[in-house]
Amino acid sequence: MQIVRDLETLRRALTALRADGGCVAFVPTMGALHAGHMALVAEARRRADQVVASIFVNPTQFGPSEDLSRYPRREAGDAQMLDGAGVALLWAPDVAAMYPNGPEITVQAGPLGAELDGAARPGHFDGVATVVARLFDQVRPDVALFGEKDYQQLLVVRHMVRSLELPVEIVGVPTQRDADGLALSSRNIYLTEEERRAARALPRALGEAAQAIVEGQGVAAALAAAREKLAGAGFDPIDYVELRDAEMLAPLAALDRAARLLAAAKLGATRLIDNLPVQPA
Ligand code: PAF
Repeated sequence: MQIVRDLETLRRALTALRADGGCVAFVPTMGALHAGHMALVAEARRRADQVVASIFVNPTQFGPSEDLSRYPRREAGDAQMLDGAGVALLWAPDVAAMYPNGPEITVQAGPLGAELDGAARPGHFDGVATVVARLFDQVRPDVALFGEKDYQQLLVVRHMVRSLELPVEIVGVPTQRDADGLALSSRNIYLTEEERRAARALPRALGEAAQAIVEGQGVAAALAAAREKLAGAGFDPIDYVELRDAEMLAPLAALDRAARLLAAAKLGATRLIDNLPVQPA
């Protein structure tokens, strides 16, 4: 696997990769890779002749009081995992290579980026949309893969691609989970042992709420019960537990179309997010 850190070399390497006319899939990441990322790579390999991955901890998607400086960085181990999984090219620019003129021109994620996580983390999805647009322009993939764990991010990217008519297919890959149900996340390593045990309450509370809603219990009651379970397990604050429409995240008072149950809450210093699909019977 070739590791590339400047745009000129990236362009040459991509021209060589595309020489046989094959299709290129792209897996953008911020590193600290786990089985969730590797599921994206596996799906990328199924869909394309060549897989390009990126590792870039994007400062523009972190708020001033967030974890940018302590975000886990372990590029050597990540590169080994990607190489072993058949990735052909790793794009690993530093901040100066990604934003040579600073992020002067930015992409606004729009109303979808102001909901839920966008309300809790103002500017976050503008930062994501800006870097993903830039990555797409640099790599020019045929298809790009994003985890459903960051469901709102997946929708923001889909919406951006539709809005800007970017020539790339966006594929969502189901969330990978530990044996007790906790969604895999690079941030799980921040949890203490005790917090890690308590964290399983999040997928459990969502699963129980989803089942109650499908069985016809009122949405508000099911969401309130989930919030109570999270508070009981030590989550504080609970940013949101919401049932939203699966396409545009419009609030739903009843399960009258394909929906997503989404939650974000803090356990100690670590903010966890998760979501589940909820289909009307
Ligand atoms: O999901 C992530 O790892 C990041 O938000 C992404 C898509 C790589 C953009 O920085």
